[in-house]
Amino acid sequence: MSEFEQPAPDFTNQEIKEILLRHYGLIATVTMLVGERDQNVMVTADDGARYVMKIANVAENAAILTLQNDLFRHLASAAPDLSMALLYPALDGQDLVQIPTKVEQGFHLVRMMTYVDGILLADADRSQQQNFNIGQYLGGLSKALAGFGSPAAFRPGFLWSLDNAASVGRFANDIADAENRQLVERAFERYTSLVQPKLGQLRKSVLYQDANDNNIIMCPEDPDKVAAVIDFGDVAYGCTINELAIALAYMLMDVGDLYGTARAVITGYTARFPLLAEELEILFDLVAMRLVMSVCISSNRARDFPDNDYLTISQQPAFDLLRKLDSLNSDFLSCFARECGAFDAVESYPQVINWLNNNQQAFKSVVGFDIQCSSRILVPMTAGSPGTEFILDQQQYAEWLDAGMDRSGAKFALGAYMEDRSCYVMEQFNSVAGESRSVHLGIDLFTAAATTVHAPMDGVVVSVQNNDAALDYGPTVILQHQAGANGPVFYTLYGHLSLQTLDIVAAGQNINAGDIIGTLGDITVNGGWAPHLHFQIMTTMLGQHGNFNGACEPAVANVWRLITPDPNLVLGLAHESFNQDIVSPAELVKSRAEILGPSYSLSYDKPLKIVRGQGAYLFDHSGRQYLDCVNNICHVGHCHPRVVQAIADQASLLNTNTRYLHETILDYSDRLLATLPDHLEVVYFVCTGSEANELALRMAKVFTERRDIITLDWGYHGNTSALIDVSPYKFNRNGGKGKKDHIHIAELPEANSDKPLDHYLTSVQNCILSAQEHSSQEHSAGDGPAAMIAESISGCGGQVILPEGYLQKAFELVQAAGGVCIADEVQVGFGRTGKGMWSFAAQSAKPDIVTMGKPMGNGHPIAAVVTTRKIADAFANGMEYFNSFGGNPVSMAAASATLDVIESENLIEHANKVGTYMMSEFKVMARDFPQIMDVRGAGLFIGIELTGTLAADVVGYARDHAVLLSTDGPKNTVIKIKPPMVISLRDADRLIAVVRRALEKLMS
Ligand SMILES: Cc1ncc(COP(=O)(O)O)c(C=O)c1O
Repeated sequence: MSEFEQPAPDFTNQEIKEILLRHYGLIATVTMLVGERDQNVMVTADDGARYVMKIANVAENAAILTLQNDLFRHLASAAPDLSMALLYPALDGQDLVQIPTKVEQGFHLVRMMTYVDGILLADADRSQQQNFNIGQYLGGLSKALAGFGSPAAFRPGFLWSLDNAASVGRFANDIADAENRQLVERAFERYTSLVQPKLGQLRKSVLYQDANDNNIIMCPEDPDKVAAVIDFGDVAYGCTINELAIALAYMLMDVGDLYGTARAVITGYTARFPLLAEELEILFDLVAMRLVMSVCISSNRARDFPDNDYLTISQQPAFDLLRKLDSLNSDFLSCFARECGAFDAVESYPQVINWLNNNQQAFKSVVGFDIQCSSRILVPMTAGSPGTEFILDQQQYAEWLDAGMDRSGAKFALGAYMEDRSCYVMEQFNSVAGESRSVHLGIDLFTAAATTVHAPMDGVVVSVQNNDAALDYGPTVILQHQAGANGPVFYTLYGHLSLQTLDIVAAGQNINAGDIIGTLGDITVNGGWAPHLHFQIMTTMLGQHGNFNGACEPAVANVWRLITPDPNLVLGLAHESFNQDIVSPAELVKSRAEILGPSYSLSYDKPLKIVRGQGAYLFDHSGRQYLDCVNNICHVGHCHPRVVQAIADQASLLNTNTRYLHETILDYSDRLLATLPDHLEVVYFVCTGSEANELALRMAKVFTERRDIITLDWGYHGNTSALIDVSPYKFNRNGGKGKKDHIHIAELPEANSDKPLDHYLTSVQNCILSAQEHSSQEHSAGDGPAAMIAESISGCGGQVILPEGYLQKAFELVQAAGGVCIADEVQVGFGRTGKGMWSFAAQSAKPDIVTMGKPMGNGHPIAAVVTTRKIADAFANGMEYFNSFGGNPVSMAAASATLDVIESENLIEHANKVGTYMMSEFKVMARDFPQIMDVRGAGLFIGIELTGTLAADVVGYARDHAVLLSTDGPKNTVIKIKPPMVISLRDADRLIAVVRRALEKLMS
């Protein structure tokens, strides 16, 4: 008789009591427990202690029982924290006692174990915490068993050893149902081709192999905690990973939340006993194989008992789970298991991401327009979001979307990555794993059908396939790329394309960055969606071809994040694009009008809500990126990290005023003076250009004891009363009250004018004369001008370049007449003109006072006046000069850091290079457009003079195309270009292209 056929022993209560007394010295009551092959008895000793006596089947292999006993002893010492039953030795100290059989020759082996009180897992309420704890318990078991060995554990032909899975293949034909049989055959195929070859390399150990819900006992006081596992009859040596695989095969049967349960068990297990990546990768294949084994073995047995329905019914949960696993992507399950085991779901992920991050600047737009700079709206598709009521009728959805885009002038609408689109109620999004696939794995760009689609980077076409099922992608292109020369491959997917796409590219074709790879399909061909591009990155194809998941179950979104990383790594859209700004520009315009002074102005007909700056770019509330060609204050780039850090560091330490000693102000002054001619020796710090010029005028007046001022026509020097008086740009324009008597306007000279230099110098001479005349009339102490104030390139005058040597000679004339000369470097200083730090130097002028401001702190309010020792001494007439903010440590830190960046990034040279390039390109453009009257400037201080109102129209067009410009000059006929100095040649091309397109459009 085989061991299966031997009946279980059937000792009577009395006989058992006698055995207990004789061999264990126990007087006890006994209760029979169930046992298929062995006789199991509950023993309650007279002291109340409880035990389980196991009387083995006569056919039981003594070596296996000894193996189990050795294992128990090992666990008790190696893992004392692992709650479990303990061996209770006989009086002679032995773990096994021999009892003669009742009917024939031979004996039964008897063991006594302590009784573990508890609830069978099969009877307990289930929870994920419990699943985690079970995983952790089994991890503890594996950890302890890693140090255990016994020759008896080698059970080569043992039917229930998962390593022997192939041997049950012969029973597959016993599966009656054809579909079930095919399911099993598929699992075998995958196992033999992909899993079995790897088994030889894996870690091995002695395994328990039977964690089913009738063998796991939970604590009575806390059913989430494991009290013990029982029945070590399947103990055998095998691949270590089998332990978890077998447990999962049981734990995942009949559960709704497959991923949640699996994650709990695996994370629990690996928390105690870390698994290797190669073990995790085949985990779910082994789970499937364990199920295959059980259905094969039971089908084989069922064959011999055709009337026993129970055998087939009990297979059902195993077949159900097998069917689920079969319908899930097994490569995905490998990624999932890796992630649960604390590995990156995809091994190549970090390398791919790193490469994408480092190369983002070089990627081309995926559609035929620049998405970073185009206007957009965000269309959330979370449950209840506007528009989602039309989700089942995409024609209506498309109309709703178009209307929304029209309203806000958007070029495209954006659908977000990793958005939980719980509005996806369609059947196609159901998943066997419990939840529906509602999380979006790509980025959607809704725009006009037929828009061209482009490769963002070099690659090879992997597939061009029409996935024409309803709600699928329609024509789909998948490209393969490589993350650097020796880097891993990754993929990009373009879904919802047109039928024409199928003829545009072919599998195997090499593609260059920027190449057209398709066009957007309309609703009739693209799976039935409103026209859009679904763009996605994949770090692995998960064994698929021609198509790929575009949505996933929320429970595994964190795994998919690594399989389909954020497509924005390629698209490079500003993060604001994905956050809906709830306060619109229109609302801000309204509130501004209510609470801010009405004389403030806003740029552009459609005012911008700018929320962030970086380098030469500004970003509006929708994430649209603008090239800033206006801001000459954020000189070294918006929010330059070095300046920001310096401000933050100092602000968190100290901010006081010049009445205390501080080194930064002195260090900075030294550095500043080193950039200026030697005669300028003394520095005053203020907060604005206006304050600087105001102070300069005061000094000139105190020093000369005069009050008449000479200024260049169309000059602007600041917003105080005294400065409006010296600013013809203000007093002779809107709201101005005209020139005051003590102000004398010198004609604004132009480098390219027909008039000789002397003509303009005569104008200065005339001003001196009229100042002398006026001051003598006024009986002021002095006789003549107190000062002449001038920029070296006239900004508000319209970027007017002065004739060579003009300022030198004009200043000499004024100085000869006893006046002080003020060079206003507020706009043109700090290297903007690309020729040294100060523009007056290009004119060989020798000012007595230099004022500076705007770029000095890269946006932080700091300005300065630098003058001669003589003037400073005369100004120190007893009256203190105090400025609450000027020269404070934070301002000085900002100014120092700005200077550091100008030097370390060679920004003056850069301004010269980019500025010269721009000027030459605009001059070329002027040949095509006679409306361009003049192109002038120096470095990154450029003016383009246009006829009529064209300048304003070009500026308006450029704004709509995400390039920010302004106009200036007496009649606003000059486009002013004065970007942050970090503007690149590529940005310059963008500006040039926009101006050209504007002129083409406006002239057409
Ligand atoms: C040449 C010139 N000087 C002085 C000022 C005044 O500077 P702030 O606006 O910092 O007071 C300006 C401002 O535009 C300017 O362009």
